[in-house]
Amino acid sequence: MAVTDRFDRPLRDLRISVTDRCNFRCVYCMPREVFGPDYQFLERDELLTYEEITRVTRILVGLGVEKVRITGGEPLVRRDLDRLIAAIRAIPGVRDLTLTTNGSLLRAQAKRLAAAGLQRVTVSLDSLDDAVFRAMNDAGVGVATVLDGIAAAREAGLWPIKVNAVVKRGVNDHTVVDLARYFRGTGIIVRFIEFMDVGTTNGWRLDHVVTGREIVEMISREFPLEPAEANYRGEVAQRWRYVDGAGEIGVITSISQPFCGDCTRLRLSPEGQLYTCLFGAKGHDLRGLLRSGASDAEVEAFVASTWRGRSDRYSEERTEATAGLPKVEMSHIGG
Ligand code: GTP
Ligand code: 5AD
Ligand code: SF4
Ligand code: SF4
Repeated sequence: MAVTDRFDRPLRDLRISVTDRCNFRCVYCMPREVFGPDYQFLERDELLTYEEITRVTRILVGLGVEKVRITGGEPLVRRDLDRLIAAIRAIPGVRDLTLTTNGSLLRAQAKRLAAAGLQRVTVSLDSLDDAVFRAMNDAGVGVATVLDGIAAAREAGLWPIKVNAVVKRGVNDHTVVDLARYFRGTGIIVRFIEFMDVGTTNGWRLDHVVTGREIVEMISREFPLEPAEANYRGEVAQRWRYVDGAGEIGVITSISQPFCGDCTRLRLSPEGQLYTCLFGAKGHDLRGLLRSGASDAEVEAFVASTWRGRSDRYSEERTEATAGLPKVEMSHIGG
C-alpha cells in the first residue's frame, strides 16, 4: 500500500541513523565546544536493535520505500554494522542500499560491508588540503586516511562512489576547484553541499553559505560544465557534466534552491523516532510502539498516518529567523 503526504509526495526513501556518535568533530556539525567529554550520547539500550530496525524497514518497504541509506553520526562506529546490512539486503523490494560515512573506518570494513550486500557508499571529504581538512574535522584525521578509505571501498566493489563536500565560506571555498580537479575522470562524483542551518549548535549564518551557482562558476572557469538531467524525480543534487566528457559533479542547494517539492525522504533516528524532515524539532515515537508489543499492522498504520499528516517544507520557508528554531542535530539524524 503506497502512501502520500499532504502535498501528494510519496514515501520512497528511508534514511536510518544507527548512532548519534562520531569519531569526527566537524565544525559545521559537532563543534567540540558542544560535543565535548561531558556530552550525553544515547545509551545502548535506548538504541533500536538491528532486529527492530530491520522490522521497521520491512514494514516501510510495504509502504513504498525503495531506497535505504544508513547514516549516523558515523555509522561505522556502531558494532557489527554488516549484520544490519545483511538483514536489510534480504528484504525484497529494497532497490538501493547505501551508506554515508566519513571514510575513516572504511579500510577496515569495506570488504565485510560489501560481502553483506552493501551496494555503494557516499564518503564525506571537505577538502584535499590537509590543514584545511584537519581544521574542519577537528579530530586529527588527515586527507590520506579518507582517500585510502575510498580506495578500499572501490577495491571491495562498492560502486558508484560519491564524495560529499560541505562548503563553508572562508573555510574551504578556496579548495573547491582542487577537489573537482582531483576526482575528474575517476568516475567518482563529487557533490558540493551548501552549508545548512541544521541543528542549533553550528553557528550557521547566511554569509557562510557559498551557493551552488558560485561553485559551478568557480569550477567552470577551469573546466567548463553544462547542466545534466536529473537521474530520477526528486534527486537532491543538481547534476553538472564536464563538457570535455570527464564526468560530472553535483551541487546540493538546500539554501539557494530548495527541493522540498519532491521530497520523499523519511528519517529514523537511532532511538527510534521518525522524522519527516531533516529540520524537524521533534520526532514521532516509533520505539514506544515497537516495544509495547504492537503488531506489524499497527506499526504500519502509525507510519502511514505520520506520513499522511506530513506537510514539511522547511527549506522553502527558511529565513534568517527560522535558523534559530529548535531542530534535531544532523549528527543525530544523519544527512
Ligand atoms: P543519491 O541516492 O546518491 O542520489 O543520494 P542523495 O542525493 O540523497 O545524497 P546524500 O544522501 O548523500 O545526501 C547528500 C546531502 O544532501 C546530505 O548529506 C544532506 O546534506 C543533503 N540532503 C539530503 N537530503 C536532504 C533533504 O531532504 N533536505 C535537505 N535540506 N538536505 C538534504
Ligand atoms: N550543512 C550541510 N551539510 C552538512 N553535513 C553535516 N552538517 C552539515 C551542514 N550543516 C553533511 C556532512 C555529510 C552529510 C551527511 O551531511 O558533511 O557529508
Ligand atoms: Fe562530521 Fe559526519 Fe561526524 Fe557530523 S556526523 S561530525 S559531518 S563526520
Ligand atoms: Fe525534505 Fe525537509 Fe529537506 Fe525540504 S527541508 S527537502 S521537506 S527534508
